[in-house]
Amino acid sequence: MTENNHSCHPRPGTRFGGAARQKNAASANGRRSLPRLAIRGRFTSSPFSLFDTFPARLLACQSTLRFPLRRPFMSSEPSRQPIIEFRRVNYRLANGNALLKDVSFTVPLGDTLVLLGRSGAGKTTALKMINRLVETNDGEVRVEGKTTLEWNPIALRRRIGYVIQESGLFPHYTVEENISLVPKLERWPAQRIRERLEELLLLVGLPAVQFMKRYPHELSGGQRQRVGVARALAADPPILLMDEPFGALDPLTRGEVRREFNELQQRLGKTIVIVTHDISEALLLGTRIGLMDAGELRGIYSPREFLRSTDPVAAAYVAQLRLLERAVEET
Ligand SMILES: Nc1ncnc2c1ncn2[C@@H]1O[C@H](COP(=O)(O)OP(=O)(O)OP(=O)(O)O)[C@@H](O)[C@H]1O
Ligand SMILES: [Mg+2]
Repeated sequence: MTENNHSCHPRPGTRFGGAARQKNAASANGRRSLPRLAIRGRFTSSPFSLFDTFPARLLACQSTLRFPLRRPFMSSEPSRQPIIEFRRVNYRLANGNALLKDVSFTVPLGDTLVLLGRSGAGKTTALKMINRLVETNDGEVRVEGKTTLEWNPIALRRRIGYVIQESGLFPHYTVEENISLVPKLERWPAQRIRERLEELLLLVGLPAVQFMKRYPHELSGGQRQRVGVARALAADPPILLMDEPFGALDPLTRGEVRREFNELQQRLGKTIVIVTHDISEALLLGTRIGLMDAGELRGIYSPREFLRSTDPVAAAYVAQLRLLERAVEET
C-alpha cells in the first residue's frame, strides 16, 4: 500500500478535511450518495452536537456518514478476508490473574471494530496484543494471516499505527518531530516528510505554522490527542489501533472530530480497532462493537443489534442512553 494510494487531501475549514469528500466516498463505492446537510458545517451549526448520545440520532448520524455502506450491518463473522484475528486468546499474569479469557474475534479488511467495556475490562490489554506489546499465554493473535509471534515485531509495528491512551507523545520532541518519527525511520525523503506533516496537521485541525514547533506540554490535552492521531497515520499504515483517542476532547469538539474521523475512515479504508468506554462513540464509529467485561468478550454486534441486545451488560449501556434522552426531553 503506497502513500499515494491513501494520502490525505483535506480541504481547509474542517478538522479532518470536513464533509468535502462526499463525492469521493460515493464514487469510490460506485453508488449514489445522500445529501450530507447536517454534517457539513462546523460543530456550532450541527444539529447533532448536543444530542448525539441518543440512539436513534446516533444511528441516523452513522448511516448518513456511512452511506452508501460498504457492507450491510451484520453480527455473524464476516466472510471477508480477516486482517486481525484472535483465536481463543488467554492472558494471565504471573500471579495467575486472568486479564483475558478465551477471546476470539476477527476484523476484516476495512472494518472498524470498537472494543467497548468499563474500566479494567481488558480493552487495552487486547489492543496491545495486536502489535505484540503483550504476548498471549495461550491461543493465537493473527495479523494479515500470520501469528504475531511469526512476525518480526518491528515489521509488525510498522504495519500498525498506534494511538496510545493519553496520546503517548515523546515530551522532548516537538509536534513535528513526533509526527515525522516513523517516516524518518522509513527513510522517506525530507520533502515528502514535510508535505506529509503539513497534510496531517491540517487533517487534525492544527495548522503547521502554529503548532509544529511546539512541545507536547505547550498543547492542550485534546490537541495532544490529535497530534497522537496524526502520528499514528504518518507512515500511512494499513492498520490503526486507537486507545480512547478522543477521550481528552471537550464534548463538542469530540463530536465533531469523531464524525469527521468516521468520514476519513470511509475514505481511507483502513482496518481499525478503537477502544472506548463511551457507548455513543461505539455506536457512531463502529462497523461492529465488541463488548468486553471482566476479561471476556461477551459478544460482537452491529450498532443496531447492540441497541436491541438482551445481554444484560449491553442492555445497561443502552438504558443509560435512554435515561439521558428521557431526562432531556422532560426538561
Ligand atoms: N501489567 C499489569 N500488571 C497487573 N495488572 C495489570 C497489568 N496490566 C493491566 N492490568 C490489570 O488488568 C486489567 C485490565 O487492564 P486494561 O488496561 O486492559 O483495562 P482497560 O479495559 O483498558 O481499562 P481502562 O478503560 O481503565 O483503560 C485491569 O484490572 C488492570 O489493573
Ligand atoms: Mg485502557
